Amino acid sequence: MTRTPVNVTVTGAAGQIGYALLFRIASGQLLGADVPVRLRLLEIPQAVKAAEGTAMELDDCAFPLLSGIDITDDAKTAFDGVSVALLVGARPRSKGMERGDLLEANGGIFKPQGEAINAGAADDVRVLVVGNPANTNALIAQRHAPDVPAERFTAMTRLDHNRALSQLAKKLGVPVTGIRKMTIWGNHSATQYPDLFRAEVNGRVAAEAVNDQRWLEDDFIPTVAKRGAAIIEARGASSAASAANAAIDHVYDWVNGTAEGDWVSMAVPSDGSYGVPEGLISSFPVTVEDGKYSIVQGLEIDEFSRARIDASVAELVEERDAVQALGLI
Ligand code: NAD
Ligand code: LMR
Repeated sequence: MTRTPVNVTVTGAAGQIGYALLFRIASGQLLGADVPVRLRLLEIPQAVKAAEGTAMELDDCAFPLLSGIDITDDAKTAFDGVSVALLVGARPRSKGMERGDLLEANGGIFKPQGEAINAGAADDVRVLVVGNPANTNALIAQRHAPDVPAERFTAMTRLDHNRALSQLAKKLGVPVTGIRKMTIWGNHSATQYPDLFRAEVNGRVAAEAVNDQRWLEDDFIPTVAKRGAAIIEARGASSAASAANAAIDHVYDWVNGTAEGDWVSMAVPSDGSYGVPEGLISSFPVTVEDGKYSIVQGLEIDEFSRARIDASVAELVEERDAVQALGLI
């Protein structure tokens, strides 16, 4: 049986992450090895030519699952009929730019993109925001798409989740497959909280398996939370292949489900769970069944973790209030 191709839109397609992401989508790693895709690439006019170059390379791969590529600088065209929207393109912080300026510049991108998703996306649309500040950009887009269920708007903390898995695996000398129930709480920023008190290593609480509070506080948490900056410092550019990999993981699990007895981290609109104000797009532990995610319920939060979750959530509240004051939501 031939399946109808799924429309996948990637914004910022000519950027670094776009280059690492598009080939993996076209090869079937985003949705599954039997799901044909049609790619829609959205770029700013100056970068359309570069996106066309990437599309030529995609053609040259002769991917059996790639049914076509459309390239546009018009958001309405890009999101028409889209089922998976990967919002990667964003305005980076430039020298002398204040946080408010950054939020405002990104509001100018994510507001019209939210409106375009509202106007034309398919009923089953799922949105992943990668472009920073990812959680608040997702909030802006979501608020401008009132006809799309709010829970379809998510932001990426899977890269942080994967970073936490690797750091812990190295510390304990175990394979990453021995670790379950890792959680990133809060914002995709340096305030995020990677939580070893609910994670398990071969069935044992990870924090107990580590048994080194100093390492946990002074090494593990800052290493994971500041890894993005460390990559920029080392590479001279922000993470790209690992970010693309995390985007693939995020969407694949959202569509295909999480493993029994495990969960993943996704920034999703809060339903008030764990004291996170309703509507904020904050990272939680989630499980996915039948294509729908649910925030894991009933976890006991210790005092150490509570303070860190609260600090990251407070930053999200500040960002939300700032974009509200700017009239962006
Ligand atoms: P990049 O600068 O290489 O590419 C960004 C692309 O977006 C550019 O080609 C640019 O032309 C395009 N763009 C800008 N405005 C656009 C618009 N309105 N519509 C469509 N395209 C637009 O950057 P990159 O390395 O690919 O990173 C992209 C974003 O992802 C950045 O904001 C970065 O900080 C963020 N990021 C997030 C994570 C995460 O874990 N959430 C990880 C890494 C990077
Ligand atoms: C990352 O976590 O690697 C990025 O979000 C860093 C950045 O600022 O682009």
